[in-house]
Amino acid sequence: MSILTHTFRLANGVERPKIGLGTWQVKNGEEAYQSVRLALKNGYRHIDTAEGYQNEESVGRAIRDSGIPRNQIFVTSKLESHIKTYEGAKAAFEQTLKALQFDYLDLFLIHAPWPWSEMGKDCRKGNIEAWRAMEELYQAGKIRAIGVSNFDPKDLDNIINNCKIVPHVNQIAYFIGLDQSKTIAHCRQHGIVVEAYSPLGIGFVLSNPDIQKVATKYNVSPAQICIRWCLQKETAPLPKSTHEGRIIQNSQVEFEISADDMALLDSIKGDPRRWD
Ligand code: A2P
Repeated sequence: MSILTHTFRLANGVERPKIGLGTWQVKNGEEAYQSVRLALKNGYRHIDTAEGYQNEESVGRAIRDSGIPRNQIFVTSKLESHIKTYEGAKAAFEQTLKALQFDYLDLFLIHAPWPWSEMGKDCRKGNIEAWRAMEELYQAGKIRAIGVSNFDPKDLDNIINNCKIVPHVNQIAYFIGLDQSKTIAHCRQHGIVVEAYSPLGIGFVLSNPDIQKVATKYNVSPAQICIRWCLQKETAPLPKSTHEGRIIQNSQVEFEISADDMALLDSIKGDPRRWD
């Protein structure tokens, strides 16, 4: 059975496919539509979008046009990072459902602990307010699981210590070379599943000579090593691609990286991402 059918169980019992298709920076319209259609055609059953990606409309349309029953596809979206009020969160969620043309969501995340334009700003109160709205939507059955994204241990503690529901998921940037051990340990301690966005370091880690060496040894691509590494770290990778061959390749990761080779990959340090 394909690894695309393997799931992580969230603390509330909901199963989410381990590998999902990321859609960050995938343009609304034909690009996002085709990427999601190709992924679903090739067995993906987990699609990750966000209000901030501005492609929910195409993602939703591709899912509906696939003809696959809605309840067989796990769909995530995210509350825009600047929305830090109860009313704002409720309204934004309704807007997300409208854009996707769905009547429920599988997972809804607070996209970041602060607005992207004010990274590091203290938004503890606002995050609690937004979380209260998400708890209500969850309890009303409009979302099957709720979580956060880009939260560090202190941001998580703010929710855990002041709210009723512990986040089911924390979605963070995670790829070979980027040390997220403290956040991951904190998530484990609280039963929070870690999702890995940019598991290929937006493509920039793929030219690392050590990753290439390990890839050659296993007769797979560097991208497959990166995705398999995330899985062996018990995190849920969300690789994105707009090319069918790569979408397929990124799901062919039924091999095991040995402990020695994991140690070699773990010794790689640094974040080569560029934003140009
Ligand atoms: P493309 O969409 O043209 O396939 P991340 O998931 O870490 O954000 O990385 C996404 C980037 O990596 C995109 O630029 C994507 O390009 C590229 N990419 C995705 N899958 C592969 C692959 N199997 N081999 C090489 N590049 C890939």
